[in-house]
Amino acid sequence: MTALLASGRDADVYALDDRRVLRRYRRGGDVTAEAAIMRYVSDHGFPVPRIYAAEGADLVMERLDGPTMMGALGDGTLDMRSGATVLADLLERLHKVRVRAATDPGTRILHLDLHPENVIMTEGGPVVIDWRNSCEGPPELDVAMTALIIATVAVLPGHQFNNHAELFLDTLMSCTRDNPLSQLEAAVHRRTADPNVTADEKAHLLEGKLLVTTAARARF
Ligand SMILES: Nc1ncnc2c1ncn2[C@@H]1O[C@H](COP(=O)(O)OP(=O)(O)O)[C@@H](O)[C@H]1O
Ligand SMILES: [Mg+2]
Repeated sequence: MTALLASGRDADVYALDDRRVLRRYRRGGDVTAEAAIMRYVSDHGFPVPRIYAAEGADLVMERLDGPTMMGALGDGTLDMRSGATVLADLLERLHKVRVRAATDPGTRILHLDLHPENVIMTEGGPVVIDWRNSCEGPPELDVAMTALIIATVAVLPGHQFNNHAELFLDTLMSCTRDNPLSQLEAAVHRRTADPNVTADEKAHLLEGKLLVTTAARARF
């Protein structure tokens, strides 16, 4: 019998054994494209779990040992500045990976959901999971997306990180080379269209956008 390890917004994750987990989309889906991207970035040295099988809604991958970044921030084993620095570094490393046959030389692989719940802090370093939204595009869009997600946390009533998210956002802005402002509107559109973003979060997107604008203007 496989044990349910964790449930995200989109998927359930089961422990198959000590080494492997099964991630299954609850509403179906096709993991082929995200598995191909994970393999590609892994071949280029970016930290993702090793993939063993990908078919239909099921992804069998390496079982990672460690808390999510969110968990580590929550129990105080990681402080906000360090967390933001890690995220900025992951974004920068991902955007160094060249895309084969891209028509625009600035095109990169984007994760588009790179936030503290999608990073697992293993002993060997942070590892990025949950590649469903990944695609190719301008790096600034990825930075805008992460910044917008963090800013929404700052303005969402009752969120446990209300008082810390702004420091996280400011640190993220001070560490990133890419000014997210040109892609901020596009990021808002994507979050609005994303069925995994709650109505409450969607209602606070514009407030979040304003916060990102202020933080980015202070930096760039
Ligand atoms: N390879 C893995 N090893 C260990 N735990 C994992 C792994 N992948 C995901 N998880 C756990 O499952 C949770 C949900 O996975 P995720 O891929 O983010 O799904 P969702 O799209 O539903 O957010 C993660 O927050 C993490 O706790
Ligand atoms: Mg997730």
